[in-house]
Amino acid sequence: MRAAASAASASTAAPAAGPALPANTLALLKLREELITRHPVNALMRESPRALLQFFELYGHFAYGFAPFVCTLFTALKGQRAKAFIYDNLLDEMGCVDGQATAWDNQHGELYRRFLTTLRRTEVYRAHLSEADTAALDAASQRLSQQAYGTYYALVAEGHDAQSIGAFSGVEGWVAAEYPFWRECLATLGSEMRFVDTRTIEIHCEADVEHARVLDELIGEYAAGDRAADVHRGLLRGIEISQTLFAGMQEEMAGSGALAFAD
Ligand SMILES: [Fe+2]
Repeated sequence: MRAAASAASASTAAPAAGPALPANTLALLKLREELITRHPVNALMRESPRALLQFFELYGHFAYGFAPFVCTLFTALKGQRAKAFIYDNLLDEMGCVDGQATAWDNQHGELYRRFLTTLRRTEVYRAHLSEADTAALDAASQRLSQQAYGTYYALVAEGHDAQSIGAFSGVEGWVAAEYPFWRECLATLGSEMRFVDTRTIEIHCEADVEHARVLDELIGEYAAGDRAADVHRGLLRGIEISQTLFAGMQEEMAGSGALAFAD
């Protein structure tokens, strides 16, 4: 989940190094990003403060569960190159920053928890969501997260590095493109946002060219070799997991169990 803002965009065009990505791989990387950045959930968030606040609640457990997932992925990978990349990512998720002392509350899940805790204290939050709403959204968030990670963990347990990395990219790949939109939406909630701990949003908006470059380079190597089918299948399955998560959040935001796709 580490942010790679400019890199994510760049990665869909052309990686900075390594073999050129095949056209079908590039198409999947683009699909991975655009299916999220153009998801109907975004329109709901843009148009309704209540929907925006609901979304941040619904995303919570997915954010809390990301570091454990990256740890499992790291452990399961067999290739040393892939392992080295995911280890770097895991350190980021655990809040380890070069030159800074480690602190438990810099862990990315805890940063998101702090974001939600401070958001819930604002008047705009309390104007739109009751305590009962928060409890119901938290339960829904937990259910959606368990569903997403259940699928991810099962996929990683199949033991194919290329597929696991492709699926990881199915989530990692849209974060940097999507978080700046979340930051824009938060700004519309007014001056109270200065009291909200938005470090989790800022961190994931930061460019991290090197990490995204290495991940896409790795995908390119798989795609150019005899593991093209594995990495493409992983990308598709990762994209589907992300789509299922967002569709589930949209369903909860619509409140009726019916999907509300924009015309
Ligand atoms: Fe993260």
